[in-house]
Amino acid sequence: MKPWREIAVPHRDVLEGSFQQAEFAADITAVRTGRAPREYRDAVAFFERTFITEGMSLLLTQVAQRFVSKGGEPVVQLQTAFGGGKTHAMLAVYHLATRKCALSYLAGVPVLVDRADLIDVPQARVAVLDGTEHSPGQAWKHGKQTIKTLWGELAWQLGGEEACALVSDADATGTSPGKDVLRDLLERHAPCVILIDELVAYVRQFPAGQTLSGGSYDSNLSFVQALTEAAKLVPSAIVLASLPASEVEAGSQRGVAALRALEKTFGRVQALWKPVATEEAFEIVRHRLFEPVREPKASETVCRAFADAYVAEGVRLPSETQERRYYERLVQAYPIHPEVFDRLYEDWTTIEGFQRTRGVLKLMAKVIYRLWQDDNQDQMILPGSLPLHDGSSRNELTYYLPAGWDAVIEKDIDGERAETVELENREPRFGQMGAARRVARTIFLGSAPSSVATTATTRGLDAARIHCSPLRTAFSFAPRPIPVQKRGGNRWSVRGGNRGVNPPPIFSFCAAGRHLSPTYSRKETHRRVPKSAA
Ligand SMILES: Nc1ncnc2c1ncn2[C@@H]1O[C@H](COP(=O)(O)OP(=O)(O)OP(=O)(O)O)[C@@H](O)[C@H]1O
Ligand SMILES: [Mg+2]
Repeated sequence: MKPWREIAVPHRDVLEGSFQQAEFAADITAVRTGRAPREYRDAVAFFERTFITEGMSLLLTQVAQRFVSKGGEPVVQLQTAFGGGKTHAMLAVYHLATRKCALSYLAGVPVLVDRADLIDVPQARVAVLDGTEHSPGQAWKHGKQTIKTLWGELAWQLGGEEACALVSDADATGTSPGKDVLRDLLERHAPCVILIDELVAYVRQFPAGQTLSGGSYDSNLSFVQALTEAAKLVPSAIVLASLPASEVEAGSQRGVAALRALEKTFGRVQALWKPVATEEAFEIVRHRLFEPVREPKASETVCRAFADAYVAEGVRLPSETQERRYYERLVQAYPIHPEVFDRLYEDWTTIEGFQRTRGVLKLMAKVIYRLWQDDNQDQMILPGSLPLHDGSSRNELTYYLPAGWDAVIEKDIDGERAETVELENREPRFGQMGAARRVARTIFLGSAPSSVATTATTRGLDAARIHCSPLRTAFSFAPRPIPVQKRGGNRWSVRGGNRGVNPPPIFSFCAAGRHLSPTYSRKETHRRVPKSAA
């Protein structure tokens, strides 16, 4: 069986480690003004690296129907937590509307168009209102034209000076144009789509009762209301707006008030948009970080071997591994093991700040870069493969944990001076497979979040999960038991040495306390790591 690196090759930017920080936050203004990296800026490249999620597919279908006046919702609100893919979904719409190529060049789109019973999707005008682009207190210019408000900007993007004339008074006075003016504006430029991103960030800046050049809090809310009303009256116009999912993300008190008010305006059509599901995250990571798998047969062979070995191993493993469906999950997630996603999506997302899609993408880009550089030969990227000795990969996880975890990892889990490495040096049969480090990394990935999570979760990691994930190949664990033992309570240990000959060193973790506190024992004496390190 071939290792993952011979079957799934990462994209060049991942291999070179040149995946930029900026690429983890889609920026719609950068795309509109041509400053974004090619993968975002170019429609064909964008769809090649995009996985069309169910939410995105519903959205694109609505948009396509709207462009040809064949139904579809006039207003769609996209609401997810930070980094959940709102802007990315809007970019998909942007590229669909402004593409310069035939539809058939946009990966994944023709199927949607077929499914919606449409023959073609015409290009359409797009206006992007990005709440972080302009200040509500400062006018800006397009050539000779001065713009002060969101409605001024909308008119400019749809139809330049001529369109601006329609709303010039409203723009000058900072009062919202009425529904009829906006309807006229949309009708003249239909089919058209209005993409509104980061609106809360813009609206919350208006001080109570004050008017700035961009209007006032109330006039901006009135504009949004009037725009949604106008879109309902123009069958080939559609408004998409992103809103943060939680009050924390809305920022200040004013932000929360703005969020609630905007939710009311956009609220009724929410059902159309679905945030990214765990299974979809597999595909997003694969599209973004890997070239398409060229030998699907080879990857299926690996997945089949894993699935069969899990069934042969039986009850000691988590119940889902015994289901037939698990093979499909392995195939879907390949070359990353589904357990990695499950722990990240189920456990790490309970930590405040860890961002679903973005957090997982950033972490995996760094992990894959490191593993590639280190000539990793694993058959799949398992929790036990995570290169925690690499500062940059490690930071993507420890950043969300309380201070002190770097020291714990270096000392107990992974790194030249780690206890696990020492254990492997003493015990060649562990050393051969890096077993102690694999187990320790698996325990870390599965149990660290439960020590800091803000929501109630089960503490620690089920021993069955440790059994299924640390080893390198599907076969290496079959002939002999996995060197992990549950040692009462929430503790597990990795044992080395032959029973009876020189009491073996025992490396164990205890995840029962507030922090995961590694303990070591020689015979039955446990020596706790000083509190300062944990
Ligand atoms: N379906 C997808 N296919 C490929 N990449 C995706 C997909 N959805 C999101 N991404 C990527 O995930 C990252 C986060 O997405 P995005 O920036 O759109 O989130 P967001 O919801 O707009 O976040 P924020 O609330 O911070 O604005 C980006 O790098 C984006 O390109
Ligand atoms: Mg965004």
